[in-house]
Amino acid sequence: MLSRQNKSLIDLNSLEKNKIDFLFSLADQVAANKSLDFEGFGKTGALLFFEASTRTRMSFETACARLGVYPLRLDGKAGSSLEKGETFEDTVLNVDAMKPSFLVIRCGDELDLKALSEKVQSPILNAGWGKKGHPTQALLDAYTIRKHLGVCEGQKVLIVGDVRHSRVAASHFELAKKLGYEVALCGPTEFLPESSGQKVFTSLREGLQWASVAMALRVQLERHSHQYSLADYRKQYGFTQENLKSLSSKALIMHPGPINQGTELDTEVLRDSRCQVLDQVSNGVLIRQSLIYATLAGEK
Ligand code: CP
Repeated sequence: MLSRQNKSLIDLNSLEKNKIDFLFSLADQVAANKSLDFEGFGKTGALLFFEASTRTRMSFETACARLGVYPLRLDGKAGSSLEKGETFEDTVLNVDAMKPSFLVIRCGDELDLKALSEKVQSPILNAGWGKKGHPTQALLDAYTIRKHLGVCEGQKVLIVGDVRHSRVAASHFELAKKLGYEVALCGPTEFLPESSGQKVFTSLREGLQWASVAMALRVQLERHSHQYSLADYRKQYGFTQENLKSLSSKALIMHPGPINQGTELDTEVLRDSRCQVLDQVSNGVLIRQSLIYATLAGEK
């Protein structure tokens, strides 16, 4: 169980291995239709999405519905006092004053979630924070790997594409250390971090031959000053049927979404038996339901 002091989930460095195992065992229970012993009636959870989201927002909402927790939603600026100039931080502090049982927050780098978690009463669950991290995405990815390959330990996860701007990759660097899987990177030099300490493959073919899990990332062209040719990118780094011939028949194909189909991953690849993209989304509900349960269990 998460202790009262560290119920916030801001990054994965501070989540102990036994707590990750506990979350995965809860997710197994939910997947097996065994209800979690929890009554959420009368509780609220604030879902503050200052940036766009489909999967994370709706899976947290689904998780709330399944636990009987009422979700208080804020989606972007429209209709909120952010339109009148109220800051993100003041918005969080004011919603926290309504005493929700937890605050789920998606935001850019301009908010300091770590500092904010010291100022609020309710635990903060990071739902994607700038380029810093997206812990529940990495957790649901690892849960998906464990489900299909039996264990996370010893797996070889190749992350392909725009790693430099990816909060998902940042969280995998943290989680890999806890769960014992190896992460390697592949992509154009300008898409990779200058020094991540990870193995780098310059050839996608060699990377795919090495990998037991191949994970494509969205090309975040809006963040690049230099316009990269999408046709060149697809040919060299795209998950096309042709390129994926180098990947083992037992390996997994993953993508956190949203996908630029025809750039980092071709539409036909979504029908490849190795592709787990929609199962990742289903597992996102299990992980977020388990996280909310673990956050609230024992709360008076
Ligand atoms: N993977 C992910 O975070 O997707 P959304 O941005 O749609 O939530």
